[in-house]
Amino acid sequence: MDRNDDLLKRRETIRLGGGEERIKKQHEEGKLTARERIATLVDEGSFFEVDDHIRHRSTYFGLDQKYFPADGVITGIGSVDGREIAIFSQDFTVQGGSVGEMHAKKITKIQDMAMKMGIPLVGINDSGGARIQEGVDSLYGYGEIFYRNTLASGVIPQITVIAGPCAGGAVYSPAITDFVIMVDKTSKMFITGPEVIKAVTGEDVTQESLGGAEVHNSKSGVAHFIAKSDMDAMQIVKKILSYIPSNNMENPKMGSEIEIESDGSINSIVPQSSNKPYDMIDVLNRIVDPGTFFEVQAKFARSMITAFARINGRTVGIVANQPKVLAGVLDIDSSDKAARFIRFLDAFNIPIITFADTPGFLPGTPQEYGGIIRHGAKLLFAYSEASVPKITVITRRDYGGAYIAMGSKHLGADIVLAWPTAEIAVMGADGAANVIFRNEIKNSVDPEKTRSEKIKEYADTFSNPYVAASRGYVDTIILPSETRSVLIRGLEILGSKVEGKPSKKHGNIPL
Ligand code: HXC
Repeated sequence: MDRNDDLLKRRETIRLGGGEERIKKQHEEGKLTARERIATLVDEGSFFEVDDHIRHRSTYFGLDQKYFPADGVITGIGSVDGREIAIFSQDFTVQGGSVGEMHAKKITKIQDMAMKMGIPLVGINDSGGARIQEGVDSLYGYGEIFYRNTLASGVIPQITVIAGPCAGGAVYSPAITDFVIMVDKTSKMFITGPEVIKAVTGEDVTQESLGGAEVHNSKSGVAHFIAKSDMDAMQIVKKILSYIPSNNMENPKMGSEIEIESDGSINSIVPQSSNKPYDMIDVLNRIVDPGTFFEVQAKFARSMITAFARINGRTVGIVANQPKVLAGVLDIDSSDKAARFIRFLDAFNIPIITFADTPGFLPGTPQEYGGIIRHGAKLLFAYSEASVPKITVITRRDYGGAYIAMGSKHLGADIVLAWPTAEIAVMGADGAANVIFRNEIKNSVDPEKTRSEKIKEYADTFSNPYVAASRGYVDTIILPSETRSVLIRGLEILGSKVEGKPSKKHGNIPL
């Protein structure tokens, strides 16, 4: 056969992966193939595939008789909206996308290329896990992938799509990456499957209830986004990429500058009574560029909002209490959620804009036993460590340790703004009056009357932003309708911010 024809024939075999039948099965399960996923993600004609001719070299259990096209994973470089990204996409049609030595080597090669070129890495997972026939060579492969995920963390953004099974130790590559997108219904992530759980604990669980997209988006916090389909997952990847730089030496790309006339409705959004809830997302949408609010982990720890957005074209990361959910309280999960997002923003030169309205840390034994001290500490640590521009807006209640934790001046915020409705105090006026005026209230002829007088006295003194502003803990007090223009100016001013930190190998964040 002509050598050129021979190459074309080989290419066709590789392109077909596990063959027509298995591709059909993949489609019947509502999944795209590994190649279709890449084609959906990258700019047309931009994908440069490498290692398509890779072959495994295992001889155990008859593997020497078997050829797995591309060894079950497609790797290469493509562009998304003109920016290069490195990609691996596991091919379930080829031996279940299982990970053997050479499959792993393809992934580690593309990880190394991504690091050298300073471009994001997108990993699409759809795999039965370690290729059982290859034994310890498969474990070696996973270890090498995890190691590189860790080296790349904070250098290049790493985004994972889970588009099929991802079980056992294999989950730890996604878990080290920055964002995990799970496709609803078709994706699963768990350490031990239902059979093992049944054998060990007697508990009956389904794969879906154990590690489906909904569970990991709303309960465990392992995933950041839920996609309706493979196609939708690729759109989410593109959207994330549009907000972030390609590596830690670059700034995010600027969008277009936008003039917005405030309709003034934001001035009355915070209810007069400090116990009444309101939706912080309504506030944020009136401040950021229209249509740019993009929530991350929207279903997890909902008393805290983490989101990307643009303000006059500039990418920012938003960390905000949500008064509508548990009054915006800080708990174990919300602290973890915010801390991890802050560290991503700081690593990739994205300013942090905080909106504070929180009554404090959640009381109770489940929180104490679960280590709220340890988890809350992560939030303080992450804010203190971050050296990107940090601007905080206090909209209403900002009490106690939670006041300090939510991007206060004391943790290095560059600009702290407060609305006239802000209340900055050690605790709410009710609790405070009950403690400091306990004897006066008890000994008074009309304890209830005295209690309400004392509550009012405490509230008049501290339930406002002026004491904090008189000490310089708040830089200035603004009308809600002024927030957008002040943030735009603040971000301009902080554009040249340089903040040195003591040199060290790394801090010891309370994990
Ligand atoms: C070798 C595998 C494989 C694996 C699937 N296949 N997983 N081959 N190693 N891990 C093969 C199947 O034998 C089959 O080959 C083909 O891929 C398609 O798989 P099916 O079983 O037909 O697909 P489906 O019915 O959709 O089931 C998918 C599945 C199931 C649930 C993932 O294949 C499965 O349970 N696989 C084993 C999962 C597992 O135990 N993996 C090891 C986990 S431990 P043929 O030739 O018959 O068509 C692990 C440790 C990692 O991953 C440690 C890292 C630190």
